[in-house]
Amino acid sequence: MTTKTREILPLPITHTLNNHARETVRWCTPSLDNASARVINPYESDVSVSYQLLGFPSEPSGIFKKAYDSAAKAYGADHTLFSVNGSTGSNFIVLRALSKQIPNLRILAQRNVHKSVVAACEDYSINLMFIPPRIDRELQIFLPNTISEILNAIKRTTPQVLLITNPTYEGIVLDLKELVKRIRKEYPNLIIFIEEAWGAHLHFSKKLPVSAMEAGADICIQSTHKQGGALQQAGMIHWKNGKINSEILRDSYRILSTSSPSYILLASLDAAREMMMQRGNQVINHLLDIAQKLNYEINLLPNFKVITTSELKERNSSVFDRDESKIIVDITNTGFSGYQIAQLLEDNQIIVEAYNQYSLLLLVPFRSTEKDVERTIAVLKTIKSASDKKIKRQPKLLLKILKDIPKILELRDVAKLLANQIERVTLDQAQGRTSAENITPYPPGIPTTIKGEEFTDKIIHYYISLSKHPNSHIIASDKSLKTVLVVK
Ligand SMILES: Cc1ncc(COP(=O)(O)O)c(C=O)c1O
Repeated sequence: MTTKTREILPLPITHTLNNHARETVRWCTPSLDNASARVINPYESDVSVSYQLLGFPSEPSGIFKKAYDSAAKAYGADHTLFSVNGSTGSNFIVLRALSKQIPNLRILAQRNVHKSVVAACEDYSINLMFIPPRIDRELQIFLPNTISEILNAIKRTTPQVLLITNPTYEGIVLDLKELVKRIRKEYPNLIIFIEEAWGAHLHFSKKLPVSAMEAGADICIQSTHKQGGALQQAGMIHWKNGKINSEILRDSYRILSTSSPSYILLASLDAAREMMMQRGNQVINHLLDIAQKLNYEINLLPNFKVITTSELKERNSSVFDRDESKIIVDITNTGFSGYQIAQLLEDNQIIVEAYNQYSLLLLVPFRSTEKDVERTIAVLKTIKSASDKKIKRQPKLLLKILKDIPKILELRDVAKLLANQIERVTLDQAQGRTSAENITPYPPGIPTTIKGEEFTDKIIHYYISLSKHPNSHIIASDKSLKTVLVVK
């Protein structure tokens, strides 16, 4: 290769990733454990389903059946499947199965559903109904609904399935055991589906909120790659005997899963299960200790403030508990936005899980160390206090907006529209019109506009302010949000 060619070619991904692995402090997923069993040589070990001796992941048979059975036992379920397309794929698998099991399926969910739930409901003609959302005013984050809000909504909307995202992206949970108990008593036929993408580790420590399976839910999905010790993309579906038709679910799994699943990813799920069974309590204690130290050190910095679980509980009666491996830092008094601080950290090879105008979200992974805390604090200390330049809050921003959004058309009806029944207009012109697209700011990937909802004056203003942030990442047909798709 000539020098000239080298200059033109970008660095290979392998090179970039190897450097990243050596030097980067990560307060983000994946949460991998350094001592877990690993496939020694991934390139040499990669095999396909042609290697029939191993059995088949989708049947399931052979080593895969054994791995699923062990996982079901470890995570408190009756059955488990391994997924190689994250919770996104698992949501599609479960929702497709439920739509086949129950005719004219109606699902009641909290508004903070992941975009994959919205997309699957659209594709499988599921009527997705929402409980009016609860959002923390100061932090602009979604909160769980109260149990009585959920029960009232069930009474009003008579769904066949209740879908709850628990924990939320920030690790907040409702009183799941109590909710399940009340539902079993009052609505014994209702299926309880817990979207537990952020809770793959919950089952293994008493210091964490209760897991969906332990609380008695019918089915849950988990991103084991997020906080459960598996490689990126790897997830699990767990369910109990009773209300879920296992045959239909396995059929959905076979139809929607790739016929070439990565055995490396599947092996990482089995290794994560083994690690959590043997040392789950110990590794979780470690990460909670690191989280506590990071909390403490950040709070010593002028103008930085960690939001505690008790503070959240005091402010919002719906907060029952929280996974404290996640740290929410209020940075409004620093004079800088979360976008700016995250950028400074990244310039110093410190990656945070998420950020917005007012806060940072740090996730403590299994392999974090005290040294990571020291490096992070050293960088944060370089931020000169600028309290006179306090970030001006725009209170009730998202809260007010999402509470007031009228649904004009059902999601599944918008999904049936033809291209000539939809048009693109400027954001201004969209006011009062019906959205023909989902708009999802990232992270955390929760759609703030769903097909069929009205573009109100307030949501348009919200999008204008969001699009001004240089680091904002929005999933929409026009990422700049200058134009949007509406129903003609
Ligand atoms: C609640 C929730 N569900 C599902 C997903 C998608 O998970 P995955 O990346 O495993 O596909 C996310 C991603 O952040 C999420 O926050």
